[in-house]
Amino acid sequence: MTTEQNSAQWSQRFEGTLHPMIEAFNASIGFDIALIEYDITGSQAHAKMLGKVGIISEAEAKQLVAGLEQVRQDYQSGTITPTLADEDVHFFVERQLTVKLGDLGKKLHTARSRNDQVGTDTRLYLRDQITQIKQLVRNCQRALFTHAEQHVETLIPGYTHLQRAQPISLAHHLLAYIDMLERDWQRLGEVYNRTNICPLGAGALAGTTFPIDRHYSAELLGFDNIYTNSLDAVSDRDFAIEFLSASSLIMTHLSRLSEEVILWASQEFGFVSLTDACATGSSIMPQKKNPDVPELVRGKTGRMFGHLQGMLVMMKGVPLAYNKDFQEDKEALFDGVNTVKVCLEAIAILFEFGLVFKPVRLAEAVAEDFSNATDVADYLAAKGVPFREAYNLVGKVVRTSLAVGKLLKDLTLEEWKALHPAFETDIYGAIAPAQVVAARNSYGGTGFEQVRSAVERTKARLETDLS
Ligand code: ARG
Repeated sequence: MTTEQNSAQWSQRFEGTLHPMIEAFNASIGFDIALIEYDITGSQAHAKMLGKVGIISEAEAKQLVAGLEQVRQDYQSGTITPTLADEDVHFFVERQLTVKLGDLGKKLHTARSRNDQVGTDTRLYLRDQITQIKQLVRNCQRALFTHAEQHVETLIPGYTHLQRAQPISLAHHLLAYIDMLERDWQRLGEVYNRTNICPLGAGALAGTTFPIDRHYSAELLGFDNIYTNSLDAVSDRDFAIEFLSASSLIMTHLSRLSEEVILWASQEFGFVSLTDACATGSSIMPQKKNPDVPELVRGKTGRMFGHLQGMLVMMKGVPLAYNKDFQEDKEALFDGVNTVKVCLEAIAILFEFGLVFKPVRLAEAVAEDFSNATDVADYLAAKGVPFREAYNLVGKVVRTSLAVGKLLKDLTLEEWKALHPAFETDIYGAIAPAQVVAARNSYGGTGFEQVRSAVERTKARLETDLS
């Protein structure tokens, strides 16, 4: 295909040829070829609709559908490949069809524009991707859940401000991420619903003079609904923005989890060790084992936010209806899809094969700090001391303990009594880490009873909801 033919394809209005640099600048074939399956499927539905309403004969419609199928096979087998002169996937498919069917191929574009066509293709593509990504979210939840199930009674320091706050069940910590991913999964379902609306038949912007049946083509393509306004149909990309937004939240959750794994794997924390399946070494420091997987996930989160931002800004100034600016939606969307997919997969593999919690180190960690201080205050409050008074007193206890280099568990009963006469020997039980955790039995808290029922609820959800 020469550039001259390309110009001729647009219409006889063009006499000259495109500047070669501009031809390349204008073309989207380099990336929108990823839509070819959807372009063909969408075109087949359009052809069937044209046949059904009598715009072309039923026989012609059948030939178009078969010809398009042939194009699909030829592309898959590598018999045909697009060139720059094809400009975009829509022209590529139509040209190939015309090579096969001659003049009949030229009838396919009746009552349609590339504007409603590209909108249809993109939605069909995204719909499929969302279904796959929902599954990957589930897999990721399952990988986290395997650890959660095993570690209900394993304790880990809980932090606020990255300062030791109160000990918690490790399962409780992991279940927090599983719950975040649950909302992500739901959000994807909602984006799916707003993606599954068909713009086909909106034409270039204003509809068409032909007696088309938009409901029929939409139904053939499995859309739930059709756009009710032709201008809106061809000129919004809100579904793609919503997808990037939902994906940005997924990445945010994965990035926070990654940051924790990176900290946990450090010598300072030492809460997990990384297996050889998911860690790499240093080219110069032989002792190192680097947490590349969570680092990459944390790093890739930035580009997802970039895509979301880029798409919002791309849209904000464009007047109705279609503008070529919209061609810019694709690379962002495709990269967003690929990024969220590989990150979900990598985190699932990391938790399945790449990381082992270190219970001994975790037990030491929760035993060697003052994260049971609230429980001393609660102990006094339960014995009738007003909480604020108890809180102030425990502040003093911590200060004195620090001064003498002791932990709370190491204070003698005399020392306790000197601080407040209400202390009895049961204080030792009350501030033991496992008791501190068990006692937080309010709904949704870290108390073992609560965590056990959360594990059961989560298990049921992950087992039954396979979609
Ligand atoms: N390649 C174009 C895109 O991705 C297809 C639509 C072209 N429409 C047009 N009126 N030039 O947006």
